[in-house]
Amino acid sequence: AAPQPVRPVRLAEYTPFPFVVEHVELWFTLAGAETRVRSRIRFAPNPAAEPAREIFLHGKALALQWARIDGADVQPETTPKGLTCPVPSGPFTWEAEVQIDPTTNTSLDGLYTSGGMYCTQCEAEGFRKITYYPDRPDVMAPFRVHIDSDMPVKLSNGNPLGDGTWDDPWPKPAYLFALVAGDLRAFSSDFTTLSGRHVDLNIWVRPGDEPRAEYAMDALIRSMKWDEETYGREYDLDVFNIVAVDDFNMGAMENKGLNIFNSKYVLASPDTATDSDYDLIEGIIAHEYFHNWTGNRITCRDWFQLCLKEGLTVFRDQQFSSDMRGAAVKRITEVMQLRARQFREDQGPLAHPVRPEEYIEINNFYTATVYEKGAEVIHMLKHLVGDDGYSKALDLYFDRHDGDAATIEDWLKVFEDATGRDLTQFSRWYSQAGTPRLSLTERFNDGTLTLDFKQETRPTPGQPTKLPQVIPIAVGLIGPNGDEVLPTTVLEMSEAEQSFEFTGLSARPVASVLRGFSAPVVLDRPLDNATRAFLLAHDTDPFNRWEAGRVLGKEVLTRMITEGAAPAPDLLTGLHRLVADASLEPAYRALMLGLPSEDDLAQTLFDSGHVPDPAAIHAARERLLDAMAAEMEPTLARLYDEMETPAPYSPDAEAAGKRALRSACLALLSRRDGCARAQALFAAADNMTEEMAALATLVRHDQGAEAVQAFYDKWRHDRLVMDKWFMLQVVHARHEIMAETAAALTAHPDFDWKNPNRFRSVLGGMQANPAGFHRADGAAYRLYADWLIKLDPVNPQTTARMSTAFETWARYDADRQAMMREQLERIAALEGLSENTGEMVGRILG
Ligand code: ARG
Ligand code: ZN
Repeated sequence: AAPQPVRPVRLAEYTPFPFVVEHVELWFTLAGAETRVRSRIRFAPNPAAEPAREIFLHGKALALQWARIDGADVQPETTPKGLTCPVPSGPFTWEAEVQIDPTTNTSLDGLYTSGGMYCTQCEAEGFRKITYYPDRPDVMAPFRVHIDSDMPVKLSNGNPLGDGTWDDPWPKPAYLFALVAGDLRAFSSDFTTLSGRHVDLNIWVRPGDEPRAEYAMDALIRSMKWDEETYGREYDLDVFNIVAVDDFNMGAMENKGLNIFNSKYVLASPDTATDSDYDLIEGIIAHEYFHNWTGNRITCRDWFQLCLKEGLTVFRDQQFSSDMRGAAVKRITEVMQLRARQFREDQGPLAHPVRPEEYIEINNFYTATVYEKGAEVIHMLKHLVGDDGYSKALDLYFDRHDGDAATIEDWLKVFEDATGRDLTQFSRWYSQAGTPRLSLTERFNDGTLTLDFKQETRPTPGQPTKLPQVIPIAVGLIGPNGDEVLPTTVLEMSEAEQSFEFTGLSARPVASVLRGFSAPVVLDRPLDNATRAFLLAHDTDPFNRWEAGRVLGKEVLTRMITEGAAPAPDLLTGLHRLVADASLEPAYRALMLGLPSEDDLAQTLFDSGHVPDPAAIHAARERLLDAMAAEMEPTLARLYDEMETPAPYSPDAEAAGKRALRSACLALLSRRDGCARAQALFAAADNMTEEMAALATLVRHDQGAEAVQAFYDKWRHDRLVMDKWFMLQVVHARHEIMAETAAALTAHPDFDWKNPNRFRSVLGGMQANPAGFHRADGAAYRLYADWLIKLDPVNPQTTARMSTAFETWARYDADRQAMMREQLERIAALEGLSENTGEMVGRILG
């Protein structure tokens, strides 16, 4: 039979649920394949909706045992998506019992088992796999949960009443429900809130892993304190529990009072985790904790409003990390991420607005656009209303909407009411997809500098024409001698074309534009190398100083690729001077040594009318890295020694910055020293950061065989470290043999492909090696598609997410396009393909 066309859900079609839920009580009997869930739910007519005489409850893969309304048996009509049942006209009590099988639930959505423990993931629509319920975020209710199980530790949301019973007084949508039962141990601490509430804090892990939760606990306590100090937000229950789970589709989940984490983002020790792992743990612990207010106390009316909680919570976790680790370095890494993931998405077939208007599978919209661009929109809003306006608006938001399932309109309204600003045009940032291109030309006359800006957003799927957006452009002026003659001011652009003048200048300054990346746009500004080098040397905005090096690097590489030019001395000497400048923090200097990624270069070439050749991009980048190593060798060698950090290892930002610079030096020096330093470091390293840096360097230079084996022998018992082992070999493989390397690793006995972390190690590693992924014979495309096909029936969410590897097909030459499309079509034609993957592949094909 031909597959049924699937009808998308639409923002415009929102209607409130006809009932409110006054209370939910659940009884779980955790008995493996015969797990039972009994529910008692008090419904009442919703005064804000049309009265209804039947109720629809979501339900998926549930075996209904019996159902009653007000104590009398009922026989609802069931479909694969839920049930419908006639109901009385006033309030009523629904009771039902279902049987479910968590032991075969490989989708990791709903209730499932991971390494012998029971756990849940309900966002976005997993609760309907647990019991019949109105599984939509605008239905909020207090929950009481009873867990009957042999497992020693039984957890759910809210406060413990003892004996496996939990009570959550805060009304919440079902997507925030959680349950965990297992043989777990806690790393515990406590926190007293500003108003004196005592909170027990526990991070639950497998026996033996307790010491590895120490850093996450420290990050949690710092997050709780920061949210009190910065946003005036206090925690609101007597306990806060976090559980580490090995099998998890995403990073973590903010379930009320019971956050569940991918163990990768909780567990850390100096010998098993890298500096970047520590950094991510800190950020994700904060993110999930901050959701308690931005997400849980104030939730979303429907899933179209996802950015309401995610954009804001990302923005808040970025502010936190910036306070913890330094603003400049943090902003640069955010922007690198944004460009790598969100710009790529926004400029391809998957482009969608920060607030999408339709979807087939909502899990496909947990994207860089909703999260990261959603945070950038708030960043711009803060620029436009100022720090004071922002904090007034946020106070009003918490005040006005506590307990609500809110919308983006509600969010913008608090800014309008708190600041008096009209945000009608600004709201286009939420509805228009695509990355605006901002072009700039400059004139200087009679002491007046004029900046002429134009903005343009290209068509995206479903949006052929675009209107001008409000773009805050932070600008500063640097005088000819390198002094700042105008400190940062924010220009507000709202027209398609707009000019801004700076008068009374005694000499022509150089403008530093889009400081701190004040808007998520592509800036197109023709500038000669010498002026870029001037900004690289003198810009007083640390972000833009780094950016000057980036843009210069990009232009040099573009000319190397398209014209066979040599690496430009301006770039080499400019970077060298910065790297040697001891007044700059090491982490910043490490970032300076980074070049634009191969994927970024491919997009840039495509934008300027070239057909990117992944192997040529790779080769040019290698030549530039060789030239940098040759130019800076003595400096790099000196820094390599100076940046050694004393034992014992400490994960703090300063020490991590030194290691980052040291590793960057190592990578370049290995082009000169035959990997002597990398060999020595691999043998001597007492922390995972340097052990990995050395191993990556060795693999990159085809000298890693012995080290790879030694690393395996040392770490084979440790899942998280083995994920790194798998990934590193693929990412750093020579591109000519990457596909074979990946294929061999997927045949390795430890390649547990049903575990998302392990799957992503190899398949994500392939994506991170673009020259290898786009190898001309298509071997990597085939291997990649084979694995998506294998995973889809087991775990559709992760498969759909990983299919984005092909989203850039239209950039490439006809042969590569045809090969990628062939793989996508092979997937699309599969019988029984999940809606998740079907939607993604369909959109990518266009
Ligand atoms: N709300 C979670 C977070 O931002 C992400 C969970 C998404 N899960 C999913 N299956 N879509 O941390
Ligand atoms: Zn989130």
